[in-house]
Amino acid sequence: MAATDLERFSNEEKRNLSLGGHVGFDSLPDQLVSKSVTQGFSFNILCVGETGIGKSTLMNTLFNTTFETEEASHYESAVRLRPRTYDLQESNVHLKLTIVDAVGFGDQINKDESYRPIVEYIDTQFENYLQEELKIRRSLFNYHDTRIHVCLYFITPTGHSLKSLDLVTMKKLDSKVNIIPIIAKADTISKSELHKFKIKIMSELVSNGVQIYQFPTDDEAVAEINSVMNAHLPFAVVGSTEEVKVGNKLVRARQYPWGVVQVENESHCDFVKLREMLIRVNMEDLREQTHTRHYELYRRCKLEEMGFKDTDPDNQPFSLQETYETKRKEFLGELQRKEEEMRQMFVNKVKETEAELKEKERELHEKFEHLKRIHQEEKRKVEEKRRELEEEMNAFNRRKVAVETLQSQSLQATSQQPLKKDKDKKKQSSYLSLLHIN
Ligand code: GTP
Ligand code: MG
Repeated sequence: MAATDLERFSNEEKRNLSLGGHVGFDSLPDQLVSKSVTQGFSFNILCVGETGIGKSTLMNTLFNTTFETEEASHYESAVRLRPRTYDLQESNVHLKLTIVDAVGFGDQINKDESYRPIVEYIDTQFENYLQEELKIRRSLFNYHDTRIHVCLYFITPTGHSLKSLDLVTMKKLDSKVNIIPIIAKADTISKSELHKFKIKIMSELVSNGVQIYQFPTDDEAVAEINSVMNAHLPFAVVGSTEEVKVGNKLVRARQYPWGVVQVENESHCDFVKLREMLIRVNMEDLREQTHTRHYELYRRCKLEEMGFKDTDPDNQPFSLQETYETKRKEFLGELQRKEEEMRQMFVNKVKETEAELKEKERELHEKFEHLKRIHQEEKRKVEEKRRELEEEMNAFNRRKVAVETLQSQSLQATSQQPLKKDKDKKKQSSYLSLLHIN
C-alpha cells in the first residue's frame, strides 16, 4: 500500500472518543471512602474511674444521646468489665460504638488487683482478633473488632495529686491501650487550683514513666491543633445532659444556686476540646495506633511466646514454614524421648515387680517348708503315741483274758473236789504271776 493510501485510510477509520468524565487514579481515595462508608466503623471506649465519677454522664454528653445505664453499687467484690454496644448513625456513616465500664473500680478495700480484670479484658479482645487472623478462613472484613481504641481515665478532682491506684493502673495499661486522662467533675475545682492540679498530674505521670496518648503531630493538617491540645492534657471536663436557658439559647449545662456551668463553653471546661480530639480529629488515629502499636506488640509477644521468630540464631531470615518444621521436629524428638522414658520406666517397674514377686515366692516356699517340718514332727509324735497306746491296749487285753480265765477256774474249783485244789492253786499262782508281770 502506498503512503498516501495509508494516510487516507487512517483518516477515515479514526474514531473520535469523547470522555465521559474525569479519568485518573486520583479517584482512589474516593473509592476508599465509599468502601469504608459502606463497611461502617467500630469504635470502642473504655471508661475507667471510680463509681459515680461521672462516666455515664460524660458518654451521654459526648454522643448527645442517652445510653442505657444503671448506677453501679459500691459493694462489688472485684472490678468487673461491662461492655455495651450501640449502633449509631450520623448522615450516612454507621458507627458501632462499644462503651466498656470498669464497674466497681476503686471500691474494694484491697485495691492491689484492681487493674488485673481491665488488663485481662483488653488482652482478651486482642486475643480474639489474633485468633480470627490466624484462622484459615478469615473474615476480618465483617469481623466485629472489639479491641479497645481509647481508655478515658477519670481522675477524681481532689486538687492534690494522683492516687497510687491511678498511677499503678495507668502504668499497667499504657502499653496496651491509648490512655487519655481526664479530670472529672471539673466544676468542683477552682480555675487556679485546676491549673496547678493539671501540672501536678502531668509531672507525676512523667516521673512514674506512664505513657499517655499524645495527639499526633506528624500530619500537617492537624499538627498545629494537636500540639496545642497536647499542652492542655489532662482535659478537665464537666458532663451534663440537662439543658439550661442561657440568654435566648438552650445549652447543656449544670445549674447551681450561684451560677451555670456550661458544658460546651471553653472558658468553663475542656469538654469541647475532648470531643474535638476524640471524635472529630483523632478517632482514626486512635484506631490506627491500637492496631499498629498496641495490637502489634501483643501479637509479637504472643507469637514469640508460641516459639515463632523472624530470624534464626544466626540472624538469618526464618520463615513461618521453617519455624513450623523446626518446632515439629523438636516436638517429635521430645515425644520420642518421652516415649523411651516411659518404656524404660515400664520395664523398670516390671523388673521391680518381678523381683518383689520372686521374693514373695521364696518367703512362701520357706514358710511352706517350715510348716511341712512342723507337720512331720507332729505326725511322728502322734505315731509314737499311737504305738504306745496300742501296746497299752494289748497288755490290757492280756490282763483281761488272764483275769477272766482266773475267774472261771475259781468258779469251777468251788463246784469240784478238794483234791484238785492244790493243782488249781498252782495254776492260779501261775496266772497271778502272769498278771503281775504285766
Ligand atoms: P457509675 O456508673 O455508677 O459508676 O457512675 P458514673 O461514673 O457513670 O457516674 P454518673 O454519670 O452516673 O454520675 C454520677 C453523679 O455525678 C450524677 O449525680 C451526675 O449528675 C453527677 N455528675 C456527672 N457529671 C458531673 C460533673 O461533671 N460535675 C458534677 N458536679 N457532677 C457530675
Ligand atoms: Mg455509669
